[in-house]
Amino acid sequence: MLARYLTRMKVISVIGLKGGSGKTSTAVPLAYYASQLGPTALLDLDPTPSASQWVNAADLLSERLACERLGIEHLSQSIRGIRDSGQVDWVVIDTPPVARDVVMSAAGEADLAVIPVHMGSGDLAQLAQTLHLMELPRRLNPGLPILVVLNHTGTAPAITRQTREAIEADGEVQRLGVTVATTDIPFRAMYSVAKGQKPGVKWWHYENLWTEVKGML
Ligand SMILES: Nc1ncnc2c1ncn2[C@@H]1O[C@H](COP(=O)(O)OP(=O)(O)O)[C@@H](O)[C@H]1O
Ligand SMILES: [Mg+2]
Repeated sequence: MLARYLTRMKVISVIGLKGGSGKTSTAVPLAYYASQLGPTALLDLDPTPSASQWVNAADLLSERLACERLGIEHLSQSIRGIRDSGQVDWVVIDTPPVARDVVMSAAGEADLAVIPVHMGSGDLAQLAQTLHLMELPRRLNPGLPILVVLNHTGTAPAITRQTREAIEADGEVQRLGVTVATTDIPFRAMYSVAKGQKPGVKWWHYENLWTEVKGML
C-alpha cells in the first residue's frame, strides 16, 4: 500500500459494470497518450480480449507501450512486479463488464478510476451500481479520484447536458466527490472497422480527455 506513494508510477483503471460503455475504447487511447510521456503497461483483464486486439489492430504497440492479458487473480501481484521493476511510469487497466470483483479490484489498485457512461438510459443505473462498488476501494485509498466520462454524446446536445446535470446533482456522486469530465467523447469519436483494418479514431477527443486525466493524478 505504502509503495503506491513512494513511486511515481500511476495506475488508471477504466471500469464499469456495463458492457459497451466505452471502457476499452477509452483505455486504449489513454494508454497511448500516457506512453508518449513514459513507459506504459496496458493490462487487459477482459477474458474476451479487446484492448490487446485493439492496440494490435491500431498498431500502437511500441517500446513505450506494452500490453498484457491478465486474469484478475494475478492483478495485484502483476502491479507489484511492475512497480518494483521501476521501469514503468503508467499502468492503464481495461476491465471486462459485469464482474463486480474485477471492478473493485481494479479500482483498489488505482490512482484514478475512470468510468465511461454511454448516453443510453441504462447506463445511469449502472453508474449508480458501479459507484456503489467504490466503497471498498475508497476505504483502501480514501483519496481515490473518480472520473465519469460521457461517451457517445453529440447526437442530442440537450440530452448530454441534462445527463451531465443529473449525474452532478446525484447525492451519491456528490458524497463520493466524483468528477464528470469536461471532455465528453462524441458519437463516432471512434469506430470499429472491418477485421484486419485500423480502427478509426478521432484522436483529439481522447487527447483532451488525457489532459484532464493527467491533471487529476
Ligand atoms: N464514441 C463512440 N462512438 C461510436 N462508437 C463507439 C464510441 N465509443 C465506443 N464505441 C464502440 O462501441 C463498442 C463498445 O465500446 P467498447 O469500448 O468496446 O466498450 P466496453 O469496453 O465498455 O465494452 C465498440 O464497438 C466501440 O467501437
Ligand atoms: Mg471492453
